[in-house]
Amino acid sequence: MNYSEWLNVKSLEYREDVLYFAGKNTLEISKEYGTPIYVINENTIRERYKSLKILLNSEYENNRIYYAVKANSSLSILKIFHSEGAFFDCTSMGEIYTCFKADISPERIIYTGNMFTDEDFTFAVENKVLVNLDSVSQLKRLTKIHDHLGKEKIIISFRINPEFGAGHHIHTITAGKTIKFGILEEQAIEAFSKAKENGFEKFGIHQHIGSGVLNAQDFKKPVEKYISIIKKIAKSLEIKFEFIDFGGGMGIPYRPLEEPLDFDIYKEVVIKPFKQLINSEDLGEPIFKIEPGRYLTAESSILLTQINTIKNNGYKLFAGVDAGFNTLLRPTLYNSYHHIISCNKKSKESTLIYDITGPICESGDILGKNRELNKLEEKDVLAILDVGAYGFTMSSNYNSRPRSSEILINNGKIFKIREAESLDDLLKLQIIPDHLK
Ligand code: LLP
Repeated sequence: MNYSEWLNVKSLEYREDVLYFAGKNTLEISKEYGTPIYVINENTIRERYKSLKILLNSEYENNRIYYAVKANSSLSILKIFHSEGAFFDCTSMGEIYTCFKADISPERIIYTGNMFTDEDFTFAVENKVLVNLDSVSQLKRLTKIHDHLGKEKIIISFRINPEFGAGHHIHTITAGKTIKFGILEEQAIEAFSKAKENGFEKFGIHQHIGSGVLNAQDFKKPVEKYISIIKKIAKSLEIKFEFIDFGGGMGIPYRPLEEPLDFDIYKEVVIKPFKQLINSEDLGEPIFKIEPGRYLTAESSILLTQINTIKNNGYKLFAGVDAGFNTLLRPTLYNSYHHIISCNKKSKESTLIYDITGPICESGDILGKNRELNKLEEKDVLAILDVGAYGFTMSSNYNSRPRSSEILINNGKIFKIREAESLDDLLKLQIIPDHLK
């Protein structure tokens, strides 16, 4: 794959020096809709979902893809997934509520929270949403809430922590003995046996080892451990699982020419051992579940941002843009790489090395460090790539900056799916006590 093919995978191409995204002129978009702005290609989301579904179907029919809502929880994005037949992995009441508002029914949702409150449980039980518990102690509280509300206890799931994790950054590795998530092997049998005692009749089991895993071999060890735990539970408690969930975590190639995740290896180290497990332990045909977020949405979106200041301080060149870590947090929080390109590729003068920096009052507000770009000018527009996962959802109002808008391109047509916030929006929940009026 060469560079322009790599860009093509992300729906990007230069036509006579202007960058087009999903067939649309990015300079015209930025003029008409303003910057900073998240621009999403609906087709990419549909393609990623469909191709993953085809791959799973060819391996094992009884499978489900639960889209990890945290990657992008905008209503229109949820509706796209819903129309493709996806299920949904939610991590909070807010995400479940958003799913409901997108007409997604409770049977299509799993609530994989952590540090659940009684309010979380009440909400889930009242709305008949399946809960995926992440500690043994939570079972007691959940059971009490079921009994108190007089609701039937049907199915329960526990998140297992298989001790081996992986991810693009230490903050996104979610398995290991010192990590807060899930239940370790030592407590796994106790968890399910107590669930049986407490009247649950059907069971699911879950793991998620981390996020941004680009080397599929990294799934091997955790899956082996997970499967050995499942075997022990199945044997000692005679449980047949309704579903076995392998979580999300599939990475995408953020860097030019980086290879995508190798799904042949993924099949070998995840799907094959799953099939061997259900055959050897006579577990029937449980649902094979995964919960990708990033893989389905990251490459669907770019962030357009305009340069307002070119500064050469004598040591370094800065291109100051109108997006900051309030708009896209990943580079600052995880030191994540997002490729940045110019929307107007100018005549090939020699390139220069820039730090692309935002307007936030912190020196860590850097979207791209030491980036080699054709000479930039004030008013130029840049595209920051692969921002469709954990881009908008992690944006904030820090420095009292309104959150940006989102637009969706569907087959050549542009739809605004989220207005940019106004200055008044920043203030609308504040209350001034009388003595300060
Ligand atoms: N399932 C569970 C239980 C999760 O906690 C997550 C992500 C996923 C699925 C989806 O993972 P994915 O397929 O997207 O890797 N903010 C970070 C990523 C944090 C992910 C947290 N959990 C980032 O920007 O890289």
